[in-house]
Amino acid sequence: MKKIKEILAQTEFSKADLVCLLQAEREERQLLFEAAQARKVATVGKKVFFRGLVEFSNICAKDCLYCGIRKSNEKVLRYEATDDEILGACRFAWENRFGSVVLQSGELSSPAFVKRVDRLLQAIKKMSNKELGITLSCGEQTKETYQRWFESGAHRYLLRIESSTPDLYHKIHPQNDLHAYEKRQDCLKLLKECGYQVGTGVMIGLPFQTDEDLAEDLLFLKKLDVDMVGMGPYIEHEDTPLYAYRSQLKTKQERFDLALKMVASLRLLMPDINIAAATALQAIDPVGREKALKIGANVIMPNLTPCDFRKEYQLYEDKPCLDEDAALCRNCLEARIELAGSEIGYGEWGDSKHFYRRQEVTK
Ligand code: 5AD
Ligand code: FES
Repeated sequence: MKKIKEILAQTEFSKADLVCLLQAEREERQLLFEAAQARKVATVGKKVFFRGLVEFSNICAKDCLYCGIRKSNEKVLRYEATDDEILGACRFAWENRFGSVVLQSGELSSPAFVKRVDRLLQAIKKMSNKELGITLSCGEQTKETYQRWFESGAHRYLLRIESSTPDLYHKIHPQNDLHAYEKRQDCLKLLKECGYQVGTGVMIGLPFQTDEDLAEDLLFLKKLDVDMVGMGPYIEHEDTPLYAYRSQLKTKQERFDLALKMVASLRLLMPDINIAAATALQAIDPVGREKALKIGANVIMPNLTPCDFRKEYQLYEDKPCLDEDAALCRNCLEARIELAGSEIGYGEWGDSKHFYRRQEVTK
């Protein structure tokens, strides 16, 4: 087998190389982290960008087997934030020079939902003199819907593939048309065609998932040529079907370590993309997100969801920041980011450099 040092000196990586990086321990793991950190600073610099996260509704038509707000979980109180609440959170982001917000919700596709999101996009743009960047994370939609939302002001879209291995995707979703792997793939293509900066990602440490699957995930991200990635550890949730497999899971610490190695390996594989430090990291380690920023991530999403709703947006157990208010979160984050040796890109959209390079190539 190749030595880690040899692999780290390369610019192209095979599946076997990536498996080797994901399995690095002790000094070798340290070498991987140092290489990723250096590549990050050399390519996207030391700046970290804020995206204020507004989880504006937990009403979901889907039943993903891992997710705490799945349709069949009757323990969740369903909510929909009002326009005023959503605009208030966005105003906070704008006034505090966050640069951008992410509007996230459960997945619905009714005409009323599509229209509401459209209206919100226009209202946020108007409120902020078009200064606030908007990322959407509202699941699978038709091309018309994606197009309409793009025209109304969303310019980035997050839609995680969750696992790029079809077999594993099927194991963690119900077997029906509403949860088809091909549909998810198609949506990612549609988003690109509409002109969005496209982000996707996977969960790490899922039951039945192997290191080879994760290496495939990394190659999938590269092949899809995505602009942004958000990926974090899978964390079990008591009220979901996947909870039955919890005895097969790696320890949380192992899943956390693997997630960091995924972030570092991805930074080497796709040096100029935006990589988010996933909130799920912080559910395992109180400074988990800062650790990810240090070794490759460059985006963080402080939670701006109105506090009353947060406990009803528990995708997984121990989700952090349940009762922190937005201002507190910001102070806390600032201190932490400085600790991680980075600086904050205040008032900037912090677009993916990769996206602009991609545009130049196709011009
Ligand atoms: N553990 C970790 N991440 C989860 N997500 C949903 N449920 C879980 C879980 N149990 C992630 C999915 C989804 C994103 C919004 O949250 O990857 O795309
Ligand atoms: Fe939310 Fe610190 S990040 S309180």
